[in-house]
Amino acid sequence: MPERKQFVAGNWKMNGRRADGVGLARGLARLANGAHACDLLVCPPATLLLPVGEVIAGSSVALGGQDCHASPAGAFTGSISAEMLRDSGCSHVIVGHSERRHGCGESDADIRAKTLAAWRAGLVAILCVGETRAEREAGRAVDVVAGQLAGSVPEGAAADTLIIAYEPVWAIGTGLTPTIADIAQIHAAIRDRIPSATRILYGGSVNPKNAAEILALADVDGALVGGASLKAEDFWAIAQASR
Ligand code: 13P
Repeated sequence: MPERKQFVAGNWKMNGRRADGVGLARGLARLANGAHACDLLVCPPATLLLPVGEVIAGSSVALGGQDCHASPAGAFTGSISAEMLRDSGCSHVIVGHSERRHGCGESDADIRAKTLAAWRAGLVAILCVGETRAEREAGRAVDVVAGQLAGSVPEGAAADTLIIAYEPVWAIGTGLTPTIADIAQIHAAIRDRIPSATRILYGGSVNPKNAAEILALADVDGALVGGASLKAEDFWAIAQASR
């Protein structure tokens, strides 16, 4: 089994004005001078990519976008291309977050196209999958995640171009998490369906208290953190829990 360095990413979602984002990034860049076992990434809102990128330049914290359009350029009002993210200093982009799958009606085909766009621009795609509460209660979690992977992961995925994030929809922003056994089960099911060196993150109510137990699992290669990534100390505490 190839070595997979753990990866802790913060998804700031639609939070923060310039002063907030710059302050958070400064705190994080300072903390990230300390020893840590994992790779670190922050995904600020698009308005903050440039100022946050300036603050974290030269630190061990990388920059990512939260979404991209599938096309490189064109008449798509309000959208941002993968090439534009790359030009703004990003190395990664989140695609297929549940807030876009369910909130914006994005399909597996859309997410597949966005993943290809990320690769075209030289970005690592962090592709999110995860079941709803109803799907879990119906015993369909593995099937749903397998279907999302089949529909949205393009041919040719490699460990240095793709990261999968398992984010159960019902665990996002709720303070609820699956049991450790349930996380292990889904991650093992994902592992069976992707190249073995590809990292699989867990996301959904990760916090400094539960991070160590989740990150200790063999098939959990890191965390995609929402709310707790908005406090530098909390995000750092999660990074410190990586192995
Ligand atoms: P929370 O950590 O706030 O539950 O959000 C998780 C998430 O959606 C990260 O992408």
